[in-house]
Amino acid sequence: MILVTGGAGYVGSHTCKALAQAREEHIVFDNLSTGHDWAVKWGTLFRGDICNLHDLRTCFQRYPIQEVVHFAALSLVGESGIKPAEYYETNVIGTLNLLRVMKEFEVRSIVFSSSAAVYGEPEEIPIPESHPLRPVNVYGRTKVMMEQLMADFQLAYGLNFAALRYFNAAGADPDGEIGEVHEPETHLIPNVLRTALGIQEMLDIYGTDYPTPDGSPIRDYIHVTDLAEAHLLALNYLRRGACLGAINLGSNIGYSVGEVVNSAERLVGHTIPKAARQRRAGDPVRLIAGNSRAKEVLGWSPQSSLEEMIQSALVFSTGKMRHLA
Ligand code: UFG
Repeated sequence: MILVTGGAGYVGSHTCKALAQAREEHIVFDNLSTGHDWAVKWGTLFRGDICNLHDLRTCFQRYPIQEVVHFAALSLVGESGIKPAEYYETNVIGTLNLLRVMKEFEVRSIVFSSSAAVYGEPEEIPIPESHPLRPVNVYGRTKVMMEQLMADFQLAYGLNFAALRYFNAAGADPDGEIGEVHEPETHLIPNVLRTALGIQEMLDIYGTDYPTPDGSPIRDYIHVTDLAEAHLLALNYLRRGACLGAINLGSNIGYSVGEVVNSAERLVGHTIPKAARQRRAGDPVRLIAGNSRAKEVLGWSPQSSLEEMIQSALVFSTGKMRHLA
């Protein structure tokens, strides 16, 4: 059985659906602080906190856990600078607790959510996994520490791990069953769509004076279902008894904030009201993944275009609105 921490969250719930489709039995461990019980549709929910060793031990005692997929974390770049104590506690101490309990129960395989935020301001585009790790925000620093914990547990105790460095997760389940819901919402594509649908008045564009063709930052957007698929491939890789280490999950293509907005405007057929704002603290100019390692080692490459990501997010957002109406 696979333990999925944070399985009620955005990338976690999409991975649970992919696990269920592959007939992989799993249990979701989540404190529902940012996840949603409605998003736990495939495995049983064990309500617990990774910061609480007792919760973790109870879960490992109750279920025959053999592998772990670890999503549970705080994940907002901007918020991390305002609440560093919470970020270090949940992401670093929570992960240390999980690894300690895995060791106690002799569980030796873990796939976990790392991030492009580990690189900071890149020296090289596309960014290879060998790029120096110089995060420019607290969130990124917690992810570097999580990776270091894994590497040290590998050396000392033979833990096999995959650190999946996601670039910008976007889109929603094509069936519209689950999608991205954060409160408050800070991510670009959901905010673009909220503005397009009239839920918010204006889209704030954080910075129009970056050294890019249209002055806005460039990101590598990757469909959440493509990310989910990569977790299954990484689990299968670890089952061979080998350690995967760090691997980028991105498309190798960058879009500026302006290009994402233009693409959404074409899709909804009208302009989206927007306002230029100050730069957001901790935002790198450009993040684009070198994804050759994922192709070579996992046989993974992204299947969805930016339009498909925005379209699926739109289908989920409109369905949610109908549900609330
Ligand atoms: N942005 C806006 N307006 C908004 C929201 C975002 O202009 O309303 C801009 C941001 O300033 C940034 C870009 O859109 O330039 C993308 O911002 P997101 O908040 O959607 O995503 P981030 O790049 O900040 O962060 C995401 C994940 C992180 C991960 C990172 C890696 O949230 O966990 O991608 O690339 F580390």
